[in-house]
Amino acid sequence: MLKIAVCVSGGGTNLQAIIDSINSGKLENTKIVRVISNNPNAYALERAKNAGIDAVCVSPKSFKNRSEFNDALLAALNEADPDLIVLAGFLVVIPLNVIETYRGRIINIHPSLIPSFCGTGFYGLKVHEAALARGVKITGATVHYVDEGTDTGPIIMQKAVEVKEGDTPEILQRRVMEQAEWIILPESIGLIAKETEKK
Ligand code: GRF
Repeated sequence: MLKIAVCVSGGGTNLQAIIDSINSGKLENTKIVRVISNNPNAYALERAKNAGIDAVCVSPKSFKNRSEFNDALLAALNEADPDLIVLAGFLVVIPLNVIETYRGRIINIHPSLIPSFCGTGFYGLKVHEAALARGVKITGATVHYVDEGTDTGPIIMQKAVEVKEGDTPEILQRRVMEQAEWIILPESIGLIAKETEKK
């Protein structure tokens, strides 16, 4: 059984896609052992509670400095003892202590086809605004391993999505979520779960 901790900051639709994939049996041998958010108002925390999943908030505002927050984040992860950490819209720079402790066991979903429209400053709607500004005809989403860089780790899976005439950033974001993110994130976790079962 692959134990996963999911880190969130917002609406949690990617978290919900994982929950639904597990509940439908599509995603096997996987259990969400904890959901962690840096944002106490994240609806993702509600989604976790509705699904009976342990949900905790570790907010930078609760600590006197970044180092204390980083330590608290690592402690919240270690307490859940996950095999894999899934960043699902987690708007926090992952501290080195977490990367070193969980090296090779952290994945992230990014709403573009890396190496396009990624790196510092490219998150949420900004990614889709940049894709529309560039005039690309195809965009999509990427699941990749997390290393010390921003969106720089080895790519696990990608899925292309068509950009349509008249798309706004919001319309494009929704299409990328529906047609790519919510599919490849559970599928990527499933690949890792299968590899773990073989070991
Ligand atoms: C998604 O667009 C994801 O690609 C990006 O942040 C957003 C999170 O959305 N990393 P949600 O919280 O999963 O709904």
